[in-house]
Amino acid sequence: MNKKKMNKGEDTTPRNMVVAKHPHATASEQFRILRTNITYSGVDHPIRSVLFTSAISGAGKSTVAANMAIAYAQAGIKTLLVDGDLRRPTTHYTFEVSNRKGLSKAIINDVPPEEMVTKTEFDKLDLMTAGPIPPNPSELLASKSMEALMKALAIQYEMIIIDSPPLLAVTDSQLLCKQADGVVIITDVENNDRNELLDAKDLLEKAGANIIGVVLNNREERRGANEAYYYAEPVTES
Ligand SMILES: Nc1ncnc2c1ncn2[C@@H]1O[C@H](COP(=O)(O)OP(=O)(O)OP(=O)(O)O)[C@@H](O)[C@H]1O
Ligand SMILES: [Mg+2]
Repeated sequence: MNKKKMNKGEDTTPRNMVVAKHPHATASEQFRILRTNITYSGVDHPIRSVLFTSAISGAGKSTVAANMAIAYAQAGIKTLLVDGDLRRPTTHYTFEVSNRKGLSKAIINDVPPEEMVTKTEFDKLDLMTAGPIPPNPSELLASKSMEALMKALAIQYEMIIIDSPPLLAVTDSQLLCKQADGVVIITDVENNDRNELLDAKDLLEKAGANIIGVVLNNREERRGANEAYYYAEPVTES
């Protein structure tokens, strides 16, 4: 898999659901390892919601979030993928569903959250797409209504995976991390800068996030295989 440079426009191509299409691929195994690592990172306080974020755009958040959501569902865990990127959402393209309802509407409208959720082709996986793009994403994500929504969803799902916009661009991920038990930072090792990663980590820490790991995405060259390579490790400054 070659990771193309993204242009700045809307990228409507579905993200690769490798874990569903090629369950025996190296990348799929890495997603399952990440699932296990996330479980073990929450021994005292079980991790039941994870935010996937990155310093800058295009690191692979939406790809990793979608694959992780499928990996949890494949393990028989009732999972919800929430598209928390209210600016450039993509989960509806990946799962090829409508984006008419979703998170923005669930926050604004006083309707039962399940009405804003879409079933997917995967048994245990539901999707809350981003919904219509609002003029004030940060305000919505910081609202009491968002907090109440996430509490209601936590009762209905065993695992909630949240996709998000890049940290250094907008404040949304700092707001979203308050709704997640753990945060995983995705970094594109070929194209992302180490200092940006550390800046992202600082922003998350200031917001009180529980950073549980980093996914090093796009390591194909070093693997020599025709696969992406993912794993999680702690963020350190040394
Ligand atoms: N490991 C990988 N191998 C190949 N292609 C990849 C890999 N990871 C991501 N991509 C591709 O790179 C592009 C960007 O990935 P993705 O949309 O998941 O990133 P993102 O962090 O969600 O971006 P944004 O910040 O714009 O939301 C997509 O076209 C995706 O299919
Ligand atoms: Mg994305």
